[in-house]
Amino acid sequence: MPSEKTVYLPDKNVAKNAHISSFAQYKEMYQQSIDNPEEFWGEIAKQFHWENPINYDKFFTFNFDVCKGPIYTKWLDGATTNISYNLLDRNIRNGHGDKIAFYWEGNHPDDYSRLTYKKLLEEVCRFANVLKSKGIKRGDRVAIYMPMILESVIAILACTRIGAVHSLVFAGFSADSFSERIIDCQARALITADGVWRGEKYLALKSICDQAMDKCAKNGHNVEVCFVVSHLERVTAPSGVQSNQSNKTPMQDGRDIWWHDVVPQASTSCYPEWMQSEDPLFMLYTSGSTGKPKGVLHTTGGYLLYAATTFKYVFDYKPNDVYWCTADIGWITGHTYVVYGPLANAATSVLYEGTPFYPQNDRFWGVVEKYKVNQFYTAPTAIRALMKFEDSLVTRHDLSSLRVLGSVGEPINPEAWMWYYKLVGGEKCSIVDTFWQTETGGHVLTPLPGATPMKPGAASFPFFGVQPVLLDESGKEIQGEGEGYLVFSRPWPGMMRSLYNNHDRYETTYFSKFPGYYCTGDGARRDADGYLWVTGRVDDMLNVSGHLMSTAEVESVLTEHRGVSEAAVVAKPHPVKGECLYCFITTNGQVEFNAQLVTELKKIVRERIGPFAQPDVIQSAPGLPKTRSGKIMRRILRKIALNDRDIGDISSLADSSVVDQLFANRPISA
Ligand code: WTA
Repeated sequence: MPSEKTVYLPDKNVAKNAHISSFAQYKEMYQQSIDNPEEFWGEIAKQFHWENPINYDKFFTFNFDVCKGPIYTKWLDGATTNISYNLLDRNIRNGHGDKIAFYWEGNHPDDYSRLTYKKLLEEVCRFANVLKSKGIKRGDRVAIYMPMILESVIAILACTRIGAVHSLVFAGFSADSFSERIIDCQARALITADGVWRGEKYLALKSICDQAMDKCAKNGHNVEVCFVVSHLERVTAPSGVQSNQSNKTPMQDGRDIWWHDVVPQASTSCYPEWMQSEDPLFMLYTSGSTGKPKGVLHTTGGYLLYAATTFKYVFDYKPNDVYWCTADIGWITGHTYVVYGPLANAATSVLYEGTPFYPQNDRFWGVVEKYKVNQFYTAPTAIRALMKFEDSLVTRHDLSSLRVLGSVGEPINPEAWMWYYKLVGGEKCSIVDTFWQTETGGHVLTPLPGATPMKPGAASFPFFGVQPVLLDESGKEIQGEGEGYLVFSRPWPGMMRSLYNNHDRYETTYFSKFPGYYCTGDGARRDADGYLWVTGRVDDMLNVSGHLMSTAEVESVLTEHRGVSEAAVVAKPHPVKGECLYCFITTNGQVEFNAQLVTELKKIVRERIGPFAQPDVIQSAPGLPKTRSGKIMRRILRKIALNDRDIGDISSLADSSVVDQLFANRPISA
């Protein structure tokens, strides 16, 4: 296994033609982006269309210090633009109209299609006109709960065409989670599909939306219009037959509309709504450590520049490349690196609906071979799941088109890195381990292909314009080697601007711990060569297969069960998921702790949050280790989950006898 000192140099062939072909060139550009952001980003901004020109005197202003007043960040204030115009009309004007924007690859290998830039613009305009005809206008929120299909991209861009703010919710969240998010952003419209196959599993999307909309109505919020794509009848079900499930989809009169009943006859031209650079573009919920999801808000101009620039340099995208990001469109990776970044560069991408395991465990590699993919971007959890299978599943495919392999979502363990590098990349690809967050909008720490000597497991160095700092507990900057809180001392164009409707929470969550810095909630270490290694969350967040959730969120769902008086959740390392949920449950005497209770609790979490949040272990805890002030000591619970008796100092515990009891109570399956 590689050590911290192991370095892999970029392949000469990758470096030779790369946008940035040496580490010296990276350093020079980085310094310029820090010393003179106006010039650096101003040059990039010239490639895009601004209806109201950029005012260079007000190019970039911010305050990160709560002691000096409200936190804000503004880029290109006063300039106006439209994102869909830049992603579509501008590219078509530049001669890319007939270029493929997306190859769509269905869950079943028999299903596939493609869409050019010109056709995408027509479809976007059609749907934008439909939205307008239903009264949706600039500033309105539109909830989107969609599978990985072309209409998802069309719906997103149609919102941006008319200045509506899209709010996607990953179509793996439960109806409860979805309704909570619809209510929070007061969405007027909802866009979904009848259903989707993922592998052999069927997901009844519209019926989940119906439950969510019912819940909203009970809470006084009525979704006015719900558009439904009829997807099932055009795809092949796992059994090999077409499904007639669409016929069974209940539609509510006056609210629900089939996409195909209104979109085809709408006009293919729609004048873009010119938006202020700092107008909201979209919001996306991420877990908050208090349990209530946070509506991360991104704005227009800066996000466009940042999505475009990170995409170009981090994936070293060239005009004839085919790029594939496997992330779901409902997560930030899907927003920035399935939709906005690639389209801003007139790229050709693969949009894949299914799973890595269907119909066989080599589907990813088959798709890479089929489309001759040059850049492949996925998550460590997928890599770990796939490396369990025999090598021949990879090696029987021609993967020679690959040049850049990306990783995102959690720290990649060196073992997975090596497998990715050697077996998938044939030791000739650059691996980009991209560290970023829903909040950062785009990559903030990452190696660059062709330029950065790679260390397996290190997110390495900051992207242009990003200034990372490591702080100790007292808020002092750590120079040179060391480990601390990962924070940023200034904003880059694509960073979040606020939490929807809750600027106070934005300031307290991200800026109050260390005045003057944006706090990521992650820890990091800087090694002797200056490389940054992200060590994981320092707050009460869990990262299960790249899905971030908070302990509080799961605990509050568990305590909803009538038999539970208290619950504590910690992360336990897991070989494939990275982390899994280990839950401690104190019953209230009304029910017994037994297998049935465990099943019920797992079911509640699935229903209330989503299947991805299902706990792996649920243990009975007659008492929980607490400090005298009543705070649960999670540090100790993490040790119990690991069965590691080296628990350190327990002098602050109110009752230390519970610890032995909990070790003794560990379920055999744990
Ligand atoms: C973690 C996903 C280490 C981190 C884009 C962060 C990572 C959280 C990496 C954000 C990486 C993401 N190395 N950790 N390359 N990428 N993370 O908002 O803890 O879903 O704070 O955004 O994932 O998750 P989010």
